[in-house]
Amino acid sequence: MEPISIGIIGGSGLYAMEALTDRSEIQLTTPFGDPSDAVIVGNLAGQRVAFLPRHGRGHRFTPSEVPYRANIHALKQLEVRFILGVSAVGSLREELVPGHLVIPDQAIDRTKGVRPATFFGEGVVAHVAFGEPVCPHLSALVSKAAHAASNTTVHDGGTYCCMEGPQFSTKAESELYRSWGCSIIGMTLLPEAKLAREAEIAYANLSLVTDYDCWHPDHDNVTAAMVVETINRNVAAAQNTIAALIPLIDPAAVYPAHSALAHAVMTAPESIPA
Ligand code: ADE
Repeated sequence: MEPISIGIIGGSGLYAMEALTDRSEIQLTTPFGDPSDAVIVGNLAGQRVAFLPRHGRGHRFTPSEVPYRANIHALKQLEVRFILGVSAVGSLREELVPGHLVIPDQAIDRTKGVRPATFFGEGVVAHVAFGEPVCPHLSALVSKAAHAASNTTVHDGGTYCCMEGPQFSTKAESELYRSWGCSIIGMTLLPEAKLAREAEIAYANLSLVTDYDCWHPDHDNVTAAMVVETINRNVAAAQNTIAALIPLIDPAAVYPAHSALAHAVMTAPESIPA
């Protein structure tokens, strides 16, 4: 099969793109189990693109249950070199209004250690650099696409606080994350971005703001219904951004993320099992 360079991991409410033509479904399996769903492959803006709904069709996996390793492994099997992860997030800043898009450039990990978060271990030790948790080069293209095509306000940069969930935050937690300088809060950027880095895939995130979490005195506390309703009203902004992004990606581009393991593996080569 021809390699597919670009993968999209769709968040809540973004199960597939209507604009995707000549679709086929590929059922893959991996040493880490099955991915969230069949990978949908199709043509978008002149390129073959692989699309994977993060929570499975019908939204079957909680953020803690998403098989992140299988998802990244499955896209790697297709030879994907660029992934855009799309997420629904709460806002921790007045100026990040529900309906806006954010392209975060930093992250804080507030997951609780229950999600397998590395491909390494069991005899192979590797520590990838993660100072830049998303690929700045791919993020710049996402920004260009979002500004050109989304018809909403786009914020470049910001810190994504990734919490475990599935419950939303308490007010005290929400204020804590605000005091840490976080911009948005969601449940899925990590370990997805870490695993993509370990797989030497350039990864960027496009976050759709759906609510003000629970810190804002003038807005109701977030509910799942509020998140779904805002996604449904604004899903076109994400879809238009994705469609505009594809032609901006040079499938042959080489970014630092593509050699993330060059200085990361500590295990002596002779001790790595064949
Ligand atoms: N996803 C969407 N809104 C959220 C919020 N307020 N907290 C965590 N995850 C979210």
